[in-house]
Amino acid sequence: MTFDRAIKIAPSILAADFANFGAECAAAEAQGADWIHVDVMDGHFVPNITFGPATCAAIRPHIKGVMDVHLMISPVDAYIDAFAQAGADVLTAHIEAGPHIHRTLQAIRAAGCKAGVALNPGTPASAVEDLMDMVDLVCVMTVNPGFGGQKFIDMTAKIKALRSMIGDRPVHIEIDGGVDPATAPLVAQAGADVLVAGSAVFKGGSVQNPAPYGDNIRAIRAAAEGVWT
Ligand code: DX5
Ligand code: ZN
Repeated sequence: MTFDRAIKIAPSILAADFANFGAECAAAEAQGADWIHVDVMDGHFVPNITFGPATCAAIRPHIKGVMDVHLMISPVDAYIDAFAQAGADVLTAHIEAGPHIHRTLQAIRAAGCKAGVALNPGTPASAVEDLMDMVDLVCVMTVNPGFGGQKFIDMTAKIKALRSMIGDRPVHIEIDGGVDPATAPLVAQAGADVLVAGSAVFKGGSVQNPAPYGDNIRAIRAAAEGVWT
């Protein structure tokens, strides 16, 4: 994975057909997705359950590019190797998931993955200040995690604070929750480069009719990139 700050659209398969993940991932990539975002939920850290490492491993051969695994689980550490073995390129843990995020991030990198730290809407940017040299990505949640299709919560000030904290380090700022063509410019202007979008990408399309995925991805990208023109 090479680093750049170009806008990357990462469709979240939480909004895809759960009976057809492989074909959904391939369709999203064929329609212009940069990364594929994979939401793992445990029914404990968040009030919803999705799937675990076996499903990630099954999805992996259907993704040509970056598999971005968002762990909404607690505890995290015992499962890091399993998700790394499953082929995650980026493995993101929540700072709120336990008392030892530093150890978790060390373990993620030791397992050969890029390390991400995610912040819930109620967690300030300052919480990750001492982790800047240990992460490859900071994920700013713009909804309370657990479900797709929720209303965007404005975290612009937090994104700007993180962008300045990151400086010239090769660290991505990812935004997750309620991203669509209306909200994408706000987060891009504040300094985000990876935009996760579930419902706004998968709406109106299907594996049999994937063209709407492409229209949706292009609309989000154009809106995000438009702030610079
Ligand atoms: C929420 C997940 C998100 C979710 C985003 O807990 O982490 O990745 O899929 O869905 P939308 O884009 O519909 O808000
Ligand atoms: Zn997510």
